[in-house]
Amino acid sequence: MNRLPHHSLLVLISATVTLVGCQEAPPYDPAEALPGGDASVNFSPFPSSELPVANLPASAKPEFYAGKALAHQPWIKAPTITDARDGLGPLYNARTCLACHTKGGRGHVPDSGDTPLLSAFLRLSIPGNHPHHGALPEPTYGEQLQSQSVALAHQLRHSGAELPMSVAPEGYVHVHWQNDIFTYPDGQQRQLRRPRIEIRNLGYGPLHPDTLMSLRIAPSIHGAGLIELIDQADIDALADPEDLDGDGISGRVNQVWDYRRQAVAPGRFGLKANRASLEITVAGAFAGDVGITNPLFPQQPCSPAQPSCQEQPDGNDANGVELSEELLQMVVDFNRNLGVPKRRSPENTQVMAGRELFYQTGCQRCHQPDFTTLASEQQPHLGGQRIWPYSDFLLHDMGPELADGRPDYQASGREWRTAPLWGIGLSKHISGSQNFLHDGRARSVEEAILWHGGEAAASRQAFTELSTPQRQQLLMFVNSL
Ligand code: HEC
Ligand code: HEC
Repeated sequence: MNRLPHHSLLVLISATVTLVGCQEAPPYDPAEALPGGDASVNFSPFPSSELPVANLPASAKPEFYAGKALAHQPWIKAPTITDARDGLGPLYNARTCLACHTKGGRGHVPDSGDTPLLSAFLRLSIPGNHPHHGALPEPTYGEQLQSQSVALAHQLRHSGAELPMSVAPEGYVHVHWQNDIFTYPDGQQRQLRRPRIEIRNLGYGPLHPDTLMSLRIAPSIHGAGLIELIDQADIDALADPEDLDGDGISGRVNQVWDYRRQAVAPGRFGLKANRASLEITVAGAFAGDVGITNPLFPQQPCSPAQPSCQEQPDGNDANGVELSEELLQMVVDFNRNLGVPKRRSPENTQVMAGRELFYQTGCQRCHQPDFTTLASEQQPHLGGQRIWPYSDFLLHDMGPELADGRPDYQASGREWRTAPLWGIGLSKHISGSQNFLHDGRARSVEEAILWHGGEAAASRQAFTELSTPQRQQLLMFVNSL
């Protein structure tokens, strides 16, 4: 067929069917066992570090491992003699990518408000729009609160007197949890927790009074190269901004700034689909999270209100940035080729029953099971694969409980990108974290579902009305992904 994927037809049919009754799952396809197609990786025995996609050609391995080394390597403060590794900060959140995306998996939010946040951060803005950043950066602190700095740097100033030039960290984020009790229709109860944010030691004075904050946990980055090769037309075909099919689920494409092409483009990566491409996501992470400037983001993470940050030495190369285009592409390549786990026991009878319930409760209306990736000249092994990410990569209004109130390009303060579910059952093994949803509030798949509201409220309702064994089956299915 042409650009209209077979599954968009399925979605249309499903919408009509649900109006009259519940919807059945399509017959099980053995291809579902391999969420990344031929690129899927066996995670048993459990790997000790990040594995490349199973079908990575031998000729592409050196680039992958070079990128992996760069993603692991702690960046250090400039200046140094080995200038390929310096330029950290001056303000930053972590020294390496994998400090947050542990083994390519997700970050975590501490259970106690005493411990500051490390593998998650706060995005900041004030009301208004910026043509490139989307939201207007907070005037002093910028687009995200960096909780680390290169600390005290002694500099010679004024007639040779040595004065400490302190680059204060911007502040420490502590998350306090408020507990709620959720009661199922059958009387069973679960404890849920919602975050309350406290910022300690603001380094540069008060935040703007209208500051909007969004707590975001590092998501898993497996399969990014496959997501990159999904045809935008396939995603567009799932969007239904005006909810014309009347199923209560809209789904919108975010429109963001493409820093490479210098144009507006559909967003796909990031928790609000706030990044247009994988390379922009990686380059933005270098600049914002590690403080490493690069060809796409050449600015140090210092605002005009942070002179001590601006006066720090940089780690620039001859092109005036800390990370060259070549090294940037190596790390992009590493992200692109991170293997997606194979499913475990997909044909177990309980899991199969759960699969049926996944469709019956309407999860797949947002968690779109499959796509076929576009052919790619640069990445032939990732092209033409039937993949099972369980996301439509669209924005959905998830209701007031999950709202962060902070718009991001065209995403409203209530909208989030459908989280891909592939690999979710291995989260604990991969990164040690089971903190789900954008801010890590959910400690299990069950809790994540119970927070679904807005467009997903009917689906959540259907889940809560299942019998206990059925709920267990559905959770087993999700955890088998
Ligand atoms: C301080 C923690 C932290 C560090 C360090 C970090 N990230 Fe992230 N990463 C995040 C968060 C939080 C998000 C979600 C951002 C958003 O939605 O705005 C994210 C998103 C991403 C995504 C998008 C995933 C998706 O599902 O769309 C990729 C890819 C990524 N990071 C790669 C990297 C790379 C490469 C580095 C190193 C250069 C890095 N990250 C460093 C926290 C971090
Ligand atoms: C209306 C669209 C929609 C429907 C329907 C929906 N979800 Fe989601 N789901 C989302 C979005 C959007 C997110 C991300 C929300 C966030 O990060 O706050 C999400 C997140 C999740 C997560 C957390 C994933 C992670 O990595 O943090 C799980 C688990 C999940 N959904 C499972 C389900 C199940 C199971 C169902 C059916 C009972 C379902 N969802 C129905 C849109 C939907």
